[in-house]
Amino acid sequence: MAKPRTFSGIQPSGELHLGNYLGAIKNWVADQEHYENFFCIVDQHAVTVPQDPKLLRERTRSLFALYLACGLKLEYCVLFVQSHVPAHTELAWLFATITPMNWAERMIQYKEKKEKQGEETSVGLFSYPILQAADILLYQPKYVPVGEDQRQHIELCRDIARRFNDRFGQTFVIPEAFIRPQGARIMSLTDGTRKMSKSDPSEFSRIHLLDSPDAIRKKIQKAKTDSIRGITFDDPARPEAHNLLTIYMLTSGKSKEEVAAECAGMGWAQFKPLLADSIIATLEPIQKRYQELWSEPGYLHELMRENAAKARAVAEQTLQKVRDAMGFLSLEGSLT
Ligand code: TYM
Repeated sequence: MAKPRTFSGIQPSGELHLGNYLGAIKNWVADQEHYENFFCIVDQHAVTVPQDPKLLRERTRSLFALYLACGLKLEYCVLFVQSHVPAHTELAWLFATITPMNWAERMIQYKEKKEKQGEETSVGLFSYPILQAADILLYQPKYVPVGEDQRQHIELCRDIARRFNDRFGQTFVIPEAFIRPQGARIMSLTDGTRKMSKSDPSEFSRIHLLDSPDAIRKKIQKAKTDSIRGITFDDPARPEAHNLLTIYMLTSGKSKEEVAAECAGMGWAQFKPLLADSIIATLEPIQKRYQELWSEPGYLHELMRENAAKARAVAEQTLQKVRDAMGFLSLEGSLT
């Protein structure tokens, strides 16, 4: 029997951080052999806010190497760059014509980013979730494994798919967000009430996957804590304690109960080095593989080319169905 499909993506808009890893990639890797996976590097999403062209190219290549270094295997996954598959932007345009403005206006991430961009807010930023819907639906996946912050975008994608099916006939599978309860929302190290984010101006708010052991120790050392004795999960008054314990749980592979019992009697001075060691041990093998891959640009380029061709073949099939359903005149086949 064919395996169910998954689709997900990450923007090459900054360095990958622990939130991206624990909320997304780690889960993709853990489940990969049970699915037929498509994982995309969404460079066309990244340019909805200003990017330096040279840096964007470098980050795109780097993210491709990181996907592999984190353990994604090409026997289970197609790993590709969004701009190498033109069907994404064509379908996004077609979806834009059937998506009411007010559906897009409701998007929380749009509202947040608009706040930052002010007068510079682009039309692209507004239609960002429509491009995301196109990314997903081109591959007809059953699941979209993401962190919690993407839930609303996946809901919009489902609404667009239903509307298309209603208007033009059954075309799309309605995908489901696949959000793990733990790690779905890793918070900033400097403020436990805000999510860890690539766009936070403070480097100390996040740990990058390629941070050196020294940098990791420094960031954990500086991480915000509180002055309550003992370290415990699930106390709404202690968001930082909950977040740091969660990171420890996910990087050490221990259960919540084990971590709660181990850390309940600790002070921060005892816990922080333990946490730093656990993060370093998780990232070390990834960094080592990354360095190996990074030293072989020709090999990476070839893999990118092969995978883009696989993605294009699937995407183009869906897009042709959409063109036919919507009534675009085809140059292939008969004249009727
Ligand atoms: P992006 O690039 O912001 O994040 C990539 C993935 O990492 C997850 N994530 C987090 N998980 C836990 N804690 C955090 N602090 C944290 N920060 C980020 C995100 O939920 C995501 O799974 N719009 C998407 C990219 C995208 C996409 C798609 C995703 C474009 N098309 C189609 C899925 C399917 C984004 O900006 O992710």
